[in-house]
Amino acid sequence: MKDRTFRQDHLLGIEHLSVDDIETILETAEAFIEVSSREVKKVPALKGKTVVNLFFENSTRTRSSFEIAAKRLSADLINFNSSVSSLKKGETLKDTVLTLEAMNPHIIVIRHSASGAPHYLTTFARSSIVNAGDGFHEHPTQALLDALTIRQRLKTLRGLKIAIVGDILHSRVALSNILLHQKLGNEIALVGPPSLVPVEFEKLGATVTYDIRRGVRNADVVMMLRVQAERGARNYFPSIREYRNLFAIDRGIFALAAKRAILMHPGPINRDVEIETTMADSDRSVILQQVTNGIAVRMAVLYLLKGEIHEALN
Ligand code: NCD
Repeated sequence: MKDRTFRQDHLLGIEHLSVDDIETILETAEAFIEVSSREVKKVPALKGKTVVNLFFENSTRTRSSFEIAAKRLSADLINFNSSVSSLKKGETLKDTVLTLEAMNPHIIVIRHSASGAPHYLTTFARSSIVNAGDGFHEHPTQALLDALTIRQRLKTLRGLKIAIVGDILHSRVALSNILLHQKLGNEIALVGPPSLVPVEFEKLGATVTYDIRRGVRNADVVMMLRVQAERGARNYFPSIREYRNLFAIDRGIFALAAKRAILMHPGPINRDVEIETTMADSDRSVILQQVTNGIAVRMAVLYLLKGEIHEALN
């Protein structure tokens, strides 16, 4: 494993990472992929360290991915479930975190419906804070695991056209990916209904189109997003049927992408809403590889924030 060049105290967003930081995380993740293929999937890199999973939104894949990552690094892990917590009794987020911190954890992984909640924690918390998704702001580990998957499949992260299709407005996955690929100098095409893809996004260096064929043409990566119904997205277009007719990916549209193109989705997928079922299960789809890579990327992030270098891979 390379010497540690990562100098961040927290992982709040792609916004705060340099290209070198991104490369360091991906290289570290590559090293951890091997650990997950072992018979005994455990290394002592975070032995004696405590990770708190503080999830205020429903989540299965991201929460369990962080949990598995922490356990494979031999950390102690606490899952804090907001639905049965003292928050229901009126406690503030700050008091909840201060109470948890009185137990001396090293890392707090937070998912919250309020954009900026992880940033707020860094103003008073002593632990390293990892953003596992804040409102419709950022979801940095998702963009990093997506990048790792792209690099594995396409053998490069440069000179690519990335098409991101769907509910861009409410998607923290989209924003983190836009920021990451903008830093890497890739071409980004955003596709969706005008109500969900405001032209303001062009200020981030992307192009905006309402025509999925145009957006997907010659793309190396086609990234589909879920319609964020829980954030009111269904009020932004007339009907699911119309959305599907205009923006779902099927074989015909995917055929317009580059020959080597891959199909991505952060999950959970809505089959036959944003992604035709045969496409989701096709050999061009890397959806399950994304899930597998999520563990290695989260191991890398936890390790780079609090791990001991000499113990990493023993
Ligand atoms: C994403 C999220 O929560 O932002 N999912 C995830 O982390 N697996 C995307 C989504 O929910 O659509």
